Amino acid sequence: MRVVLLGAPGSGKGTQAQKLVARYGMPQISTGDLLREAVSEGSVLGKKASMAMDAGELVADEIVLGMIRERLDRQDPAGFVLDGFPRNETQAGALEGLLETIGQPLDCAVLMDVDFEILMQRLTGRRSCPQCGRVYNVYFSPPQQTDVCDHCGGRLEQRTDDNEATIRNRLEVYESRTRPLIGFYARRDLLQIVDAEGDIDEVFERLISALEHLRKSGSA
Ligand code: AP5
Repeated sequence: MRVVLLGAPGSGKGTQAQKLVARYGMPQISTGDLLREAVSEGSVLGKKASMAMDAGELVADEIVLGMIRERLDRQDPAGFVLDGFPRNETQAGALEGLLETIGQPLDCAVLMDVDFEILMQRLTGRRSCPQCGRVYNVYFSPPQQTDVCDHCGGRLEQRTDDNEATIRNRLEVYESRTRPLIGFYARRDLLQIVDAEGDIDEVFERLISALEHLRKSGSA
C-alpha cells in the first residue's frame, strides 16, 4: 500500500505511521525524521535545513526532494507510508511525477483531521526518546517516571521546535502551504479524511477501516 499521511503538526502522523508499519510492514518515510538526522549528524544538508526548522518554516524543496528521490529509489514491495511529505503543491507534483516514473502510483492521501486547540497541547506535551524513538505525551500518554523512557530507560527530550512561538508559525505554515493539498488530492480522487481526535488506538481503528475499505474496493 502506498499512502501519504497529511495533517497539521501534532495531528498524529508520526504516531499513526509507526502503527501502520507494525501492522502492514511497509516502511515509514518521514522527511522530518530524515532532516533531524541530517541536523544531528552536522552534514552540509543538515546545516542548510536547521535554520528553517528552528523557525518553523519549510525547508527548501530541492533539499527535501533530493532526500525523497533517494529514499523512493529503494522500492519496497509492501509500499510506503509518507509522513510529513509532501508539504506544498510543488512537492506533491514532484511526488506524482516520480511515482509515475517508477510505476508505483499513490493509493491514497489520508487527512488526519484534528481541531486546532488540541494540536497545541499535543505538541507542547510531546517528549521523545533519542535512544529508541518512542514518543510520549505528558498530557495524554506520560511515561511512568518523569522524563524516562518506559521502554529503554533513555532520558526523554523535547523537540527544539516544540515551543509555543515556533509551533504557532508551523501551524500558520501548514494553513497557507500544506492545507491546499487537500484540494490537490481530492481532485485526483485520492483523498480520505479520518477523524484524528480521541485516543491513539481509536484513531488507528478509523485509519485502518478507511484503508481496508479501499483495499476491498480494489483501489489499494
Ligand atoms: P515534521 O517532523 O514533519 O513535523 P510536523 O509536520 O510539524 O509534525 P509533527 O511531527 O510535529 O506531528 P505529527 O503529526 O507527526 O504528530 P505526532 O504523531 O508526533 O517536520 C518538522 C520540520 O521539518 C518542519 O517544520 C519543516 O521545517 C521540516 N520539514 C519536514 N518535512 C518537510 C517537507 N516535506 N518540506 C519542507 N520542510 C519539511 O504526535 C504529536 C504528539 O501528540 C505526541 O506527543 C503524541 O504522543 C501525541 N498524540 C498523537 N496522537 C494522539 C492522540 N490520538 N491522542 C492523544 N495524543 C496523541
